Amino acid sequence: MSVIDLMKERYSCRCFLERQVEPEKLEAVLNAGRIAPTAVNYQPQRVYVIQSDEGLAKIRQATRMAFNAPVVLMFCYDDRVVWNNKRDPGYNSGEMDVSIVATHMMLAATELGLQTLWARGYATKDIVEAFNLPEHMHLVCIMPIGYPDPEKGKPSPKHFDRRSLEEQVTYL
Ligand SMILES: Cc1cc2nc3c(=O)[nH]c(=O)nc-3n(C[C@H](O)[C@H](O)[C@H](O)COP(=O)(O)O)c2cc1C
Repeated sequence: MSVIDLMKERYSCRCFLERQVEPEKLEAVLNAGRIAPTAVNYQPQRVYVIQSDEGLAKIRQATRMAFNAPVVLMFCYDDRVVWNNKRDPGYNSGEMDVSIVATHMMLAATELGLQTLWARGYATKDIVEAFNLPEHMHLVCIMPIGYPDPEKGKPSPKHFDRRSLEEQVTYL
C-alpha cells in the first residue's frame, strides 16, 4: 500500500472486536514509533502498553475514551530527557516528539489491519492518578488499538469532512 493510500485507510475507530492484537503486530507497531524522528534525537517518549485486565479496567474507569479496545497505548514524554529550546525559553519539544511517534504507530497499525483512536478528551489528572505516573512524566494522549467492529466501528461522518486546501494552505 502506498503511504497516501495508507493515510486514506486510517480512521478513528470507537468500537473494536474482542479479538486480541497479535504480539508480533503490537511489537511492529511499537517499533514503528521507535524509528520516529525527535528533537536532537533525545527520544523523550515513554509509551505504556495497557492490555492486562487490571490495566484496561483502570483506563476505562479513568476515561471513556479508551472505548472497548483490547490494547490502549498511553503516550508520555519524560521532562528529564526532552529537548528545551534555549532560544525560546519555556518551549520543549515533548508534545511534538510524542505526536510524531504516535502518528508513526497509528499508520503502522492501519497497515496491519488494525484501527486506532487518537484520544485527548480526558482529564489528565484522572489518568495520572489511576496509573500513579511520576511528576516528570507528561501525558500527551492515549490511543486505543484493535480490530474494528465491522458495524459499530465504522468511520464517523467527521472522517469524510475536510476543509478545502484553500482554507488550510497559504502560499507566501
Ligand atoms: C489531538 C486529537 C485529540 C482527539 N481526541 C479525541 C477524543 O478524545 N475522543 C474521540 O472520540 N476522538 C478524538 N479525536 C479524533 C478526532 O475526532 C478525529 O480524528 C476527527 O474527527 C477526524 O476523524 P478521522 O480520524 O476518522 O478521520 C482526537 C484527534 C486528535 C488529533
